[in-house]
Amino acid sequence: MATSLRALLPLYSVKGGATVPLPRKLARLYGGLRMPAPGSSPKVFSNFVTTLDGVVSLQVKGHSGGGDISGFNSQDRMVMGLLRAVADVVIVGSGTLAADPQHVWTPDAICPELAREYQLLRHAMFKHPAALNVVVSASGNIDLRLPVFASGRVPVLIATTRTGARRLHKQRLPDSVSIRSIRSRSGRIEPGAILDEVARASGGERILIEGGPQLLGSFYRAGLVDEQFLTLAPQIAGRREQDGRLSLVMGTTFAPQHPLWGSLTDVRRGQSHLFLRYSFAGRTQL
Ligand SMILES: NC(=O)c1ccc[n+]([C@@H]2O[C@H](COP(=O)([O-])OP(=O)(O)OC[C@H]3O[C@@H](n4cnc5c(N)ncnc54)[C@H](OP(=O)(O)O)[C@@H]3O)[C@@H](O)[C@H]2O)c1
Repeated sequence: MATSLRALLPLYSVKGGATVPLPRKLARLYGGLRMPAPGSSPKVFSNFVTTLDGVVSLQVKGHSGGGDISGFNSQDRMVMGLLRAVADVVIVGSGTLAADPQHVWTPDAICPELAREYQLLRHAMFKHPAALNVVVSASGNIDLRLPVFASGRVPVLIATTRTGARRLHKQRLPDSVSIRSIRSRSGRIEPGAILDEVARASGGERILIEGGPQLLGSFYRAGLVDEQFLTLAPQIAGRREQDGRLSLVMGTTFAPQHPLWGSLTDVRRGQSHLFLRYSFAGRTQL
């Protein structure tokens, strides 16, 4: 179901934040983009695609990535690239890397047809050519020969535990990769500690979480997600009991004890896909 690149139709938008200086072609395709002005702490935003019935990963070999959820929709790729282009840092968990091991988290890797526009945008925002890619893994069970590490295309930080760091140091460490061993409780690294390391490494103000659901869950639990971009793809994936299909957040629950409500700030339409944006800023840690 690949579609050609067409402009999104703006349906609803709450004003606020600073205007992002989009190059003409991106402005035509996406419309205006405003992001919260950087303050004393970095802004954390997440971007996912989900089916109408709330599935973000089919968990079927060769079909576990977001492409199978969006139908490899070009407007979704365009938005993914745009959000990567405005980010200083892109964070993923090891499960997301495992599902797409050849990927590098740059705008042009997801939407090559707009590579030049993304580059212009980063230049206009005085950003480094590539955002810091952060991979989170407690176990350190990661192959450093994968392109994200070995290609040298992006600087990479691996946030891991002491055990994970020991395991990783048994492999040859590419120059573009640094390993940070962070104190963990029962194998889980606190998202706040990940952000502290990221701040030390990059000083970045805009942090994009691209998944997966476990990593995102831990950031929501810590009250550290300011905004959620969510593409709603017009398909129903279905579920069988214990088929392992994932939803947006895994590994933690909120409702009914601690319901976590966001507020809708933006809606755009691309044919039958909806591009939604919610604010969760100011939600407290559980
Ligand atoms: N539809 C979408 O938009 C979308 C977006 C992203 C991902 N996905 C899909 O989601 C699936 C992956 O899901 P997932 O939940 O397994 O992904 P994940 O969160 O990327 O990976 C989970 C792994 O990351 C590490 N991790 C996450 N949070 C951690 C923390 N706080 N402390 C320490 N380690 C942490 C652990 O690694 P170790 O096991 O190495 O210790 C954990 O097993 C893939 O199929 C991917 O394609 C879909």
